Amino acid sequence: MSGVGGLDLWRPVAEAVDLAVPVEHRRPIAIVGAGAIVDVAHLPAYRSAGLEVVGIFDIDQERAHEVAGRHDVPRVYASLDEVLADDRVEVIDVAVVATAQPAIVRAAVAAGKHLLCQKPFAPDIATAEELRDLAEAAGVRVAVNQQLRYDEGVAVARAVAGLGWIGEPTALTVHVDIATDFGAWPWLLVSDRLEIAYHSIHYLDAIRSILGDPTTAYCVAGRRPGQAPAAETRTMSTLRFASGASAGLHVNHENLGGDLRAEFRLDGSEGSVRGTFGMLYDYPHGRPDTVELFSRVVPTDGWVPYPVTGRWIPDAFAGPMGSLLRWIATGEPAPTAAADNVATLRLVEALYASVAGGVAVEVGR
Ligand SMILES: NC(=O)c1ccc[n+]([C@@H]2O[C@H](COP(=O)([O-])OP(=O)(O)OC[C@H]3O[C@@H](n4cnc5c(N)ncnc54)[C@H](O)[C@@H]3O)[C@@H](O)[C@H]2O)c1
Repeated sequence: MSGVGGLDLWRPVAEAVDLAVPVEHRRPIAIVGAGAIVDVAHLPAYRSAGLEVVGIFDIDQERAHEVAGRHDVPRVYASLDEVLADDRVEVIDVAVVATAQPAIVRAAVAAGKHLLCQKPFAPDIATAEELRDLAEAAGVRVAVNQQLRYDEGVAVARAVAGLGWIGEPTALTVHVDIATDFGAWPWLLVSDRLEIAYHSIHYLDAIRSILGDPTTAYCVAGRRPGQAPAAETRTMSTLRFASGASAGLHVNHENLGGDLRAEFRLDGSEGSVRGTFGMLYDYPHGRPDTVELFSRVVPTDGWVPYPVTGRWIPDAFAGPMGSLLRWIATGEPAPTAAADNVATLRLVEALYASVAGGVAVEVGR
């Protein structure tokens, strides 16, 4: 197959979304937290990428041994101090309940370790800025695991926009209507924040990676009477950008009807990219994303499918770690560096302020 619509067309996009980690960038990694996401995403993605995980720590030691055994991780640490004292460890990958993360980051930065943190990076902007500044002062690299940017569907949309194939981007929409069992995370059931802070934060970060930072945000949030989680499970958000572009998100986790939907679409002046987030059709395994391009620039003959090869879980998880390792090796800042992630958190805060006030809110800088 060759020519327009064939593999030749997609070569520059495939190169832009490649997540291979060069051998010379690889550094020994220790993981803190042996929960569900480390088991199904972090460890499988790192193994596929050829990365070395030297040990793992969890306050639940039984769980740490179980996960280490399943993934051939050679060492289980008995404490965080043991992790920090291991001279072999250059990078610490944190994946614990969000409230426990800042204390671990402070200790690891003081020990001179580079870090990949889970999202949300911090519970509030002040803490995020404090952690960012601590890392900068200590000369260590801290990035955040906002891996949806590296999911193949999103990465293809960003690459296509970057190549000019859809002209000037004008609008990005996300429509997710799924049934999420939040019982898998007992700490989330009682959290006073849910949908925006723990789920839509992925879309918000991905949107920022394509359209930049919005100027204004508006959000309405709701719950389904009788739902298990305490906080919001449905949000409808609108973002405005200085370029004139807009973004709209409708995300619902309480779809009772079985007609699941997880779609995105990026429109431009000369074309569009549309696709689906395959993972959300049966979390965490799901199915591959779909991505299609319509372009008057290339031009394409109608909608042309991109040959997807990876999944959000686990494949996209190689993205944030790979870019952190590139940062350490070359000095090129990771796209999801803590300094960048503060802007994603500002957007989260703006949306909650909009929900609380019932008004559109200017997004802080
Ligand atoms: N796509 C994604 O990026 C994604 C998906 C799911 C979860 N997450 C995030 O990853 C983190 C973990 O989620 P999970 O699904 O694995 O949760 P989980 O509840 O399955 O696991 C959390 C683990 O952290 C351990 N832990 C808690 N405090 C600790 C501490 N101080 N030191 C060491 N270990 C500690 C717990 O014992 C548990 O094993 C959360 O921040 C969550 O928001 C991200």
